[in-house]
Amino acid sequence: NKVVLAYSGGLDTSVAIKWIQENYDCEVIAMIGDVGQQEDVEAIKKKAYNTGASKVYVENLQEEFVTDYIYPAIKANAMYEGKYLLGTAICRPLLGKKMVEIAQKEGADGIAHGCTGKGNDQVRFEMAVKALAPELKIIAPWREWDIKSREDAVEYAKYYNISVPVTKEKPYSIDRNLFHSSYEGGILEDPTYEPDEDMFIMTTSPEKAVDTPEYVEFEFENGIPTKINGEILEPIELMEKLNEIGGKHGVGRVDIVENRLLGMKSRGVYETPGGTLLYHAKKELEYLTLDKDTMHFKELVSSKYSELVYNGLWFSSLKKALDAFVDKTQQNLTGKVKLKLYKGNIEISERKAPYSLYREDLATFEEDEVYNQKDAEGFINIFGLTLTTEGMIQRNQN
Ligand code: ARG
Ligand code: SIN
Repeated sequence: NKVVLAYSGGLDTSVAIKWIQENYDCEVIAMIGDVGQQEDVEAIKKKAYNTGASKVYVENLQEEFVTDYIYPAIKANAMYEGKYLLGTAICRPLLGKKMVEIAQKEGADGIAHGCTGKGNDQVRFEMAVKALAPELKIIAPWREWDIKSREDAVEYAKYYNISVPVTKEKPYSIDRNLFHSSYEGGILEDPTYEPDEDMFIMTTSPEKAVDTPEYVEFEFENGIPTKINGEILEPIELMEKLNEIGGKHGVGRVDIVENRLLGMKSRGVYETPGGTLLYHAKKELEYLTLDKDTMHFKELVSSKYSELVYNGLWFSSLKKALDAFVDKTQQNLTGKVKLKLYKGNIEISERKAPYSLYREDLATFEEDEVYNQKDAEGFINIFGLTLTTEGMIQRNQN
């Protein structure tokens, strides 16, 4: 018997390797997905072997993460509950998909993950497996074992000679990738607790940000960012560059009490510097190029899309159908946007698109040829018919 475990190198997933071997009498293949978490994957690989993994896969998923997960989410303006850009939620399906591929290649019977039984991440991994390889079994040690605290885990690790990280564990849980960094749990569970400045890893605080504003020019083609400040950048470079610029100006921090799929509310803090810039810049082009009805309908689609993604339904039929709608809306989403960044603030300085529907000659208050002001009178009379009727009836009633 074999299982493929999503391995992070942390205490929990290290303990999981041993626990699965002991309790399921099977071989554990560790998968380390490099999604831009900026950790030493080679060291993590070594640790997986030392802890007893029979085989270790290090998967470089950064580019696929940007092109197939971040870009679609940006096209859809995906944002959960008005604040969260879904950086963890879009990453889990990719990790799930890779685990499935490895399981199939290795002829494994199942997959395993180190998520707790209370969160969203377990659902996201498992929805990916159900969609892509429903025959695979799933092992979720946190839902089964007696380890309830870090002390229990340390004790277990010591018993089995698993090295325990010497650095003091952060008093909250972090999930980092190329798009964002998230913090929740531990001391952050108190929603009146303001996080310390040293918690943040991708952004400086607005008060410590540079004192001079910076202009950044974005170029999009069909809803996808292609150039920053006139320079063509490959997907990974582009995200790194935007994270650096946004981070320097204290852009993209969010603190939210969000609704988890499983029913409880949870307090989370996120930093998504580059993603926040992309979200605003691309949206600005939509203001120019989408007609009113499509734009308003797309807002409904975004909200449903975000909920599906949050809930782990990345590989669902509805999500695919919504992607098709979104892609159609991005057909003319080509153009340039210039943002001005200053101390956490994002202002729009320029926007320009070849397929812009904005027509100065229509909007102008000056004389023009295409719009006959006299037509507005008849329009207003008919548009106001309901109000006129109600108004007359109410007056007669008094
Ligand atoms: N609450 C966020 C979400 O559901 C972040 C989850 C972070 N996960 C973690 N294992 N620290 O997407
Ligand atoms: C976890 O519970 O494993 C992390 C938090 C989440 O999944 O929402």
